[in-house]
Amino acid sequence: MTNPSPWRATVLTLFPEMFPGPLGHSLAGRALEAGIWSLQAVNIRDFAADRHRTVDDTPFGGGAGMVLRPDVLDAAIETVADGRPMFCMTPRGRRFAQADARALAEGPGAVFVAGRYEGIDQRVIDARGLTEISIGDYVLSGGELAAMTVLDVVVRLLPGVMGAADSAEEESFSAGLLEYPHYTRPAEWRGRAVPPVLLSGHHAAVAAWRRAESEALTRERRPDLWAAYVARRINADHAAPPVVTGGAGP
Ligand SMILES: C[S@@+](CC[C@H](N)C(=O)[O-])C[C@H]1O[C@@H](n2cnc3c(N)ncnc32)[C@H](O)[C@@H]1O
Repeated sequence: MTNPSPWRATVLTLFPEMFPGPLGHSLAGRALEAGIWSLQAVNIRDFAADRHRTVDDTPFGGGAGMVLRPDVLDAAIETVADGRPMFCMTPRGRRFAQADARALAEGPGAVFVAGRYEGIDQRVIDARGLTEISIGDYVLSGGELAAMTVLDVVVRLLPGVMGAADSAEEESFSAGLLEYPHYTRPAEWRGRAVPPVLLSGHHAAVAAWRRAESEALTRERRPDLWAAYVARRINADHAAPPVVTGGAGP
């Protein structure tokens, strides 16, 4: 099966052979095969102008490491820029979040620049209007894993990628809460029983238990998400703030 207009991903990288890598497996891999999305890995080095195929140089002002040259990277970007949003992977960027993935999944695709060395020359970021995004407060050795992470998050949200139509809706971050705990068979394992409500067959009671667990976990583990959730609840129809009735919260 091929999709007439797949979601199109382009990654500019010095290591195109790293792709699709993990994205060629499981959900993302099957969706790639089915033509729900497409992936193009462009070798930045192909755009070097000298016979040594040089892509980097020492930083002006001194300091350790090397910097990706703006002229080489810009020539690579020129061949793929077509109106899709363009991102530069960097620990300095805004932290990528589930809401960003949802917005991206609704568009035609995206272009990602994977940095290496100390990073890329600021002028090409400015000239091309690249949005700087980070996947977390730590430093990877290159932007490829960061781009793959973002792609994995986006691709599973594309229509037709996940099995159950609503499986993304209850996940962590979707409603601004962390997800409730899961249990499967056996109902008792090493003396640990599954919460009885989950065996009750009462859908409303199960839903209430899950919501309470989600709220309690979020309040305990992520005060930032919890504060935003409470504020939203207060704003929405002047609803009273949620009352945590059980679960992991204090
Ligand atoms: C060694 S890092 C450069 C770190 C940079 N000198 C700094 O201190 O911000 C090389 C490349 O890895 C990528 N990278 C590293 N950590 C990242 C993160 N947390 N999120 C997104 N990309 C990251 C970026 O593309 C970066 O240009």
